[in-house]
Amino acid sequence: NQKMTKKIRIAIQKSGRLNEESLQILKDCGVSIDNGRDQLKASAANFPLEVFYLRNGDIPQYLRDGVVDIAILGENVLVEKGEDISIAQKLGFSKCRVSLAVPKGTKYESVKDFEGKKIATSYPNTVINYLEQYGVKADLHIINGSVEIAPNIGLADAICDIVSSGSTLFKNNLKEVEVMLKSEAVLAVSSKIDLERQEILDKLLFRFKAVLKGRD
Ligand code: PRP
Ligand code: MG
Repeated sequence: NQKMTKKIRIAIQKSGRLNEESLQILKDCGVSIDNGRDQLKASAANFPLEVFYLRNGDIPQYLRDGVVDIAILGENVLVEKGEDISIAQKLGFSKCRVSLAVPKGTKYESVKDFEGKKIATSYPNTVINYLEQYGVKADLHIINGSVEIAPNIGLADAICDIVSSGSTLFKNNLKEVEVMLKSEAVLAVSSKIDLERQEILDKLLFRFKAVLKGRD
């Protein structure tokens, strides 16, 4: 009749720009996770927490299903496919924009110019919702990466993707013409989190807030 202490299950990006800083903020919160990315799951040595390394785009569904309790992910991913999922804390890192861009030589006046155009993107919902506000309908070409080369290879007239330093746009001869949204890393919470884990989350949030205050 032993009572198992539950652990809070957190999803973080398996690889990519959020991975390192996500582990770093956990570390700054005094939560040390020993083994690296080779394993898809790891436990903290000194806090009731398990880490799951997942693909960015899969995280909203894991939260929805309650397979993980919390996650560190880009707000832009929630806008794209997790509008129902709540944010407990903005984390202040991995700031970026989600923007529309066109080849440098293209004459651009307004969003209306996207009417009937082919746009390559990994963020179809975000693009459709944005254009809809202006009554614009475009033809989307959904791809998962290397979106910025699409216009150069004749696959699309424009692209929508994340812009951080702007260097990918620059290298591909594209200009940013519409900023659709601004994003940063956030701590998101599953609506299915149980009481015991909610208590662990409260402790963790307390630490997150202290760390973020110190970073200001
Ligand atoms: C991301 C994103 C942009 C780029 C933006 O791509 O999709 O292409 O970074 O960053 P920048 O403005 O600093 O250049 P990533 O390199 O992660 O590769 P992927 O699109 O192939 O997944
Ligand atoms: Mg890219």
